[in-house]
Amino acid sequence: MSRHPDSPETCPDRPDRVRSFALRTGRLTKGQRRALEKLLPVYGVPDTPERLEPEALCGRRAPLGMEIGIGGGEAVMALARNHPDWDWLGLDVYAPGLGKLLLRLEQEPLPNLRVAKTDAVAFLEERLPAGSMDAVYIFFPDPWPKARHHKRRLIQASFLGVLASRMRPGADLFLATDWPDYAQWMVEVLEADPHFANVHGCGAWAPRCPDRPPTKFEERGEGRGHEVFDLHYRLEGGE
Ligand SMILES: C[S@@+](CC[C@H](N)C(=O)[O-])C[C@H]1O[C@@H](n2cnc3c(N)ncnc32)[C@H](O)[C@@H]1O
Repeated sequence: MSRHPDSPETCPDRPDRVRSFALRTGRLTKGQRRALEKLLPVYGVPDTPERLEPEALCGRRAPLGMEIGIGGGEAVMALARNHPDWDWLGLDVYAPGLGKLLLRLEQEPLPNLRVAKTDAVAFLEERLPAGSMDAVYIFFPDPWPKARHHKRRLIQASFLGVLASRMRPGADLFLATDWPDYAQWMVEVLEADPHFANVHGCGAWAPRCPDRPPTKFEERGEGRGHEVFDLHYRLEGGE
């Protein structure tokens, strides 16, 4: 897998929207392609311009959790498996990752999980109704370590504003990263944000999120001797 040689910083139709991901030219395996063809119609969120009705996702009224940047889907599958009373939505732009997840779902069907191949920023803005999410998980987002790329980090004040508007008051936000500089950045942006409060006290790290299984990117970081930082915030206004 390699970066697309021409990976624009902004969306072609929205020059004001910075892309937090690099276009990658990872090739689909045969199995992934087959899984996408067969199972995207089952697990995929219909790609329409309409706002989503959360009850229509899995055909019931249930709390809704979302993972942004699911990679190969280890975490969102664990979330859906361990919390069958919730509905779960996993978002990513990377087709081979979605293919991997769908192959896993072929072995272990999870009726409370749906996926979308989409830029999460656009999806939140355009498809999700206000106050619809009960928890959001963002594990090992792309760190964009060079200073000139920091504007491409997903966690930004503007993104938190959108996220907050789509979350229910009192909903939880869990994050993890193995990049100390990004961890510090996240704490600074979140502590400055008027919508979120740190569950463990101002500026504090959280214990490992109980719902976070080891993911590919965590394992990669650990192989390089990286420490992992967890954060847990809550949207103000709950009971
Ligand atoms: C470093 S990987 C981590 C994947 C997984 N969470 C893990 O821990 O293994 C970051 C993932 O976020 C996805 N991503 C980055 N920006 C995104 C966006 N705006 N919308 C959806 N997915 C995004 C990338 O495609 C990539 O799969």
